[in-house]
Amino acid sequence: MLDWSETNAAAGPARNITAIQPDIELQLAPADATGLGDIDRSGGRVSVDEKRMINCRADVNQLLPLKYRWAWEKYLSGCNNHWMPTEVSMQADIALWKSRDGLTEDERRAIKRNLGFFAASESLVANNIVLAIYRHLTNPECRQYLLRQAFEEAVHTHTFQYIVESLGLDEGELFNMYREVPSITDKAAWALKHTQNLDDPDFKTGTIAADQAFLRDLVAFYVVFEGMWFYTGFAQILSLGRRNKMVGIAEQYQYILRDESIHLNFGIDVINQIKIENPHLWTKAFQEEVRGMLREAAELEAAYGRDTMPRGFLGLNAALCEQYMHFIANRRCAQIGLAPVFPEADNPFPWMSEAMDLRKEKNFFETRVIEYQNGGALSWE
Ligand SMILES: [Fe+2]
Ligand SMILES: [Fe+2]
Repeated sequence: MLDWSETNAAAGPARNITAIQPDIELQLAPADATGLGDIDRSGGRVSVDEKRMINCRADVNQLLPLKYRWAWEKYLSGCNNHWMPTEVSMQADIALWKSRDGLTEDERRAIKRNLGFFAASESLVANNIVLAIYRHLTNPECRQYLLRQAFEEAVHTHTFQYIVESLGLDEGELFNMYREVPSITDKAAWALKHTQNLDDPDFKTGTIAADQAFLRDLVAFYVVFEGMWFYTGFAQILSLGRRNKMVGIAEQYQYILRDESIHLNFGIDVINQIKIENPHLWTKAFQEEVRGMLREAAELEAAYGRDTMPRGFLGLNAALCEQYMHFIANRRCAQIGLAPVFPEADNPFPWMSEAMDLRKEKNFFETRVIEYQNGGALSWE
């Protein structure tokens, strides 16, 4: 049986570097961050105390002993949620899409832009995980989750291939929207500038500037891309599904939403754990910068909403989506310990809470808060 708090004291000598101050930590040479360097034949066995989210000093090839149980539990939850898009029937969607008057032109425009946004975004998120985050997140249980997440992003990309094929959509139009529709390009370009810093082959964590660049990437992709922009995308399609339109796509989006809520909360736990281990990174100035990122991201989403739904339709319009974005942005701020960026906003889509599996919405740090509360004092969404 696994012992979560195991320190492996009996397993051999551990390097005695457990109680180091952050500024001294930065001067120590980290262990091989890739796990692909030469094997250290004379090294001691891994102690959980040596494991770190970034700038590790423990062998990244050894999953056990576990230190971050929340990461392992998210890996198990992801595995329990396995699904494939082809399991969902598209018959009703095909009939509605091909019917002459089943959907208005405004609804068709919003659906196509929504699909176009997600189709490329799933690949951008996957590439960021595999080519940027994985390299620098130096903890085996987190990497185990990233491997699962990478597969789920492939399933999500597959979903858009399956939708394009089922409905007979123009694949070039849909998969190029992130380049050809300015309101979508603006969002993708905003996120990409944060991963391009890490794309430099000489980029290494271990300095304050580099570690903050890594945090910016985590905020841009986990908190903003998956945690803000995806949520308005889910609200748009699920709103149609509630009116019995495009029910197959709506069902697929519910599965994607279930996966994404774990991705988001993994990212939030990673950010909060890095903050605990590296408090010197989370300066007042940096906190303000991150709040500015969330504010900018909400503005980009509002512009996308106006472009996607210029007139709006039943139950959905650009103003409601902007209000939802403000509500979500404030919630994301609270989850990473920041003051809200917008005046208090009501959730205009309370039914989105029902669409989410709230047990999966929890992140480790909030779960701990709940454990210390009586009853239902904490409101989810
Ligand atoms: Fe995804
Ligand atoms: Fe994701």
